[in-house]
Amino acid sequence: MTPLAGSPNTPLEPPERHSTRQRTVSPSGQAARKSARIIGTGSYLPEKVLTNSDLEKMVDTSDEWITTRTGIKERRIASPEEPTSSLATEAARRAIEDAGIAAEEIQLIIMATFTGDVLMPATACLVQKNLGATRAAAFDLSAACTGFIYGLSVAKQFVLSGFYDTVLVVAAEKLSCVTDWTDRNTCVLFGDGAGAAVVSSQGEGPRIIGEYLASDGSIYELLILPGGGSLHPPTHQTVDQGLHFLKMSGREVFKHAVTCMVDGAQKLITQHNLSPQDIRLLVPHQANKRIISEVGKRLGIPAERIYVNIERYGNMSAATTSVGMDEAFRSNQFNPGDKILLVAFGGGFTWGSVLLEW
Ligand code: ACO
Repeated sequence: MTPLAGSPNTPLEPPERHSTRQRTVSPSGQAARKSARIIGTGSYLPEKVLTNSDLEKMVDTSDEWITTRTGIKERRIASPEEPTSSLATEAARRAIEDAGIAAEEIQLIIMATFTGDVLMPATACLVQKNLGATRAAAFDLSAACTGFIYGLSVAKQFVLSGFYDTVLVVAAEKLSCVTDWTDRNTCVLFGDGAGAAVVSSQGEGPRIIGEYLASDGSIYELLILPGGGSLHPPTHQTVDQGLHFLKMSGREVFKHAVTCMVDGAQKLITQHNLSPQDIRLLVPHQANKRIISEVGKRLGIPAERIYVNIERYGNMSAATTSVGMDEAFRSNQFNPGDKILLVAFGGGFTWGSVLLEW
């Protein structure tokens, strides 16, 4: 029987381009205890910038309102020729290059998105094709803004179990396609973008030392994209009602976002016997600068140890934490032992956190 692509039984031929990363080998020459590391990261933001003053011409809003209520100054908008898979592919290419591996070395692609190119097949499969990652299995994961955290956690389990050695996690969203550009309550908040990470048992990079995942489906309607699925299949009526646009009860979501992100961060801090002072950098989901400030205040982590890029990109859902992590890795000097905490919250509700050790 021909083994399936990406199966652990598939013999891996040596890739044409060898990894420049050091393999994790103990002084005795024995393979060291397995760990899951982020050996490469990358991100991609579409070129087109939509500023608050652009939005002033589209809906009844102001730069002053958007800036003071959200912290957002501008966001990126993908072109009609750039579906989510294109954003994801570019971010993934950069992560693969950063990892110093060949696309054929990837054994699994996990794609976090709720704005995939089509409902079926999974956008992960299109990314696999674009990358030429011919040995990889591929699937999409739906956890809204928490998608990248969920994806990293799933990748870690595959790597630690030994089932796969090298997993690509991509988070990409084209939220401009599900945004009602006549609704000032939501259209000022969102943007498009993509981020990616290569998780492997071999190579150098921060180790994933902990993760916490949670969900509460009882209040799912507070943040929802109601149309286009089996509950409201697309019809002229659902389109007329705007059910294909993201709906959000902003004030309610705000409160839950703060409580849940604090919960997610505190769970890992406590589990790992750390104090907030031990967190070198917090990389939170960026939905609103006031949410981020409140989370930092409640956790006791000062602003200078919180990575913030919301003013440039707005909320890119799952892509937000992945882009934030990639930028934070490139703009900070970390020392061995430094702890980096990723935390996110989103539709579902879902929330969670990932703890990294440099
Ligand atoms: N410009 C001007 N005025 C506006 C705008 C705007 N763009 N949007 C709303 N307003 C008005 C409202 O109409 C309201 O007016 P009213 O008092 O006359 O009714 C007033 O501003 C206040 O509205 P609120 O909704 O109370 O404003 P709030 O301070 O809560 O800010 C916001 C709204 C930014 C949406 C905030 O609630 C928020 O950030 N919520 C959380 C979002 C979030 O966390 N999302 C996470 C997940 S997203 C995902 O999963 C894809």
